[in-house]
Amino acid sequence: MITHTVTEKDILSHEVDCYGYFVTHNAVAAAKKLPADLTQLQDTHYPDLHAWLVASSFTGKALEVRTLPFMKNGKLVHAVFIGLGEAKEKQLPIERYRRVVGKLVRTATQHSGESLAFSLPDERIFDVTIEFLAKQTAIIATMANYHFNDFITVAENKGTSLYAMVIGTNAQHKKAVQTGLNDGFCMGHAVNKARHWVDLPPSDLTPPQLSLKAEEIAQKNNLAITVFTEKEINKMGMGGLAGVSRGSDLDCHLVVMEYHTKKKNAQTIAFVGKGITFDSGGLSLKPAGSMETMKDDMSGAAAIIAVMEALAILKPDVNVIGITALAENLPSGKALMPGDIIRFYNGKTAEVKNTDAEGRLILADALSYAVKHYKPDAIIDLATLTGGCPVALGPFFSALMSQHDDLMDAIYEAAELSGDRVWELPLDDDFKPSIRSTVADLANISERKYGAQTVCAAFFLQHFVGDTPWAHLDIAGTAYDVPDLPYYRPGATGAGVRLLIELALNWE
Ligand code: BES
Ligand code: MN
Ligand code: ZN
Repeated sequence: MITHTVTEKDILSHEVDCYGYFVTHNAVAAAKKLPADLTQLQDTHYPDLHAWLVASSFTGKALEVRTLPFMKNGKLVHAVFIGLGEAKEKQLPIERYRRVVGKLVRTATQHSGESLAFSLPDERIFDVTIEFLAKQTAIIATMANYHFNDFITVAENKGTSLYAMVIGTNAQHKKAVQTGLNDGFCMGHAVNKARHWVDLPPSDLTPPQLSLKAEEIAQKNNLAITVFTEKEINKMGMGGLAGVSRGSDLDCHLVVMEYHTKKKNAQTIAFVGKGITFDSGGLSLKPAGSMETMKDDMSGAAAIIAVMEALAILKPDVNVIGITALAENLPSGKALMPGDIIRFYNGKTAEVKNTDAEGRLILADALSYAVKHYKPDAIIDLATLTGGCPVALGPFFSALMSQHDDLMDAIYEAAELSGDRVWELPLDDDFKPSIRSTVADLANISERKYGAQTVCAAFFLQHFVGDTPWAHLDIAGTAYDVPDLPYYRPGATGAGVRLLIELALNWE
């Protein structure tokens, strides 16, 4: 938790461990006189500042950092100068700002800074409103502040976190900044909450345990919730979810959370998440190396539960149903076998050719449930569904598949606003026959000659959404262990959380 103060005063009048300064390219070396905020620092605390910045060849290139220790009121503090880069036609991408904020927070905490003060840059450089800039600041600071320390016992190996931030702005902007920060911290928390669940070991976050988290959230935030246990899931005829869970000693759960807006005649959207708390592959066992990170196979469900909490606070003008299917995929004498045929909640059947293609089996029931009980205006599902996804798109883009252009446009828009990026894969009908079976309605793996397993898996899901406008997001590449970015750490990223919150907030 970061507490925050918005100030109209000079940030140097606040006592913190670290003072951050955003510097545009060439604002130092080329200028005879430093920008106003740096002049202030120079005049009051460090007369050699301009010379020091020039001597340390700091030019304000994108993400360039210099750290200057100095004494302030008898205490050692640091100034962190961070480059925003070259403003082409005076405009910078907002993603640049996100990364700069991430780097600033990281740099501060690397110098054991637990409190940080900085003034927001001019929002016009990024062509956004000040409220939006403040929101991005809070989201990214919170994300950059995340550590998974639960099992680190050596104190110095734990990452340092900020606990206080002072944000400078002017009187005219103060209210908008406050609003933006409040929303942003809420979103950042949601991202980190999802990351924490994903980072927890699979034995410490089982299906019943994750479903308990959802219940706690629902209770605290006044969301309606229904939790179906394995017995009920069997009785309802959800052969996909029950089948996948057969090899596990633990109960599978279907968790349905509801956020209702006060707005009259609002639309209803459903978010559906894959929650395999550990994917061993089942009897079609994965090789050891591929299993190493399979605690992350509930990233979709974690994201959706965290999103529901944020929506209860941010209150968008749309009803949102969050449905997550939670199970373990394990081998045992009771486990689902290749060759088994299962019957789903909507009556369709599938031949299980490979028990490692389990995600589509549990999602089939969850999607059918959403359609039957809520008749939503749109469904978006989020899943670490296929190993082919990171091969096709890498770690920076979640795969987006849909045949509904309006929905796709809305998702692209939310991706742009949130920085939680997506890229389209072709959900073209030519792939439709890839999942034929000779003994059931469908096969759970696609024929080899079609390739594109990420797309073929989406066509499997399509059989369970009826006519509902639907988009599928495969986050297998983006959810876990992406290459270093200033606001990510090794481990879970919370992919999809920012995207779905922004989608709900802007729903029309
Ligand atoms: N959970 C995996 C997909 C996955 C792979 C997620 C790597 C994250 C990183 C999924 O259940 C799976 O095992 N898919 C198989 C299906 C195959 C057997 C048809 C795959 O894509 O390899
Ligand atoms: Mn699998
Ligand atoms: Zn899986």
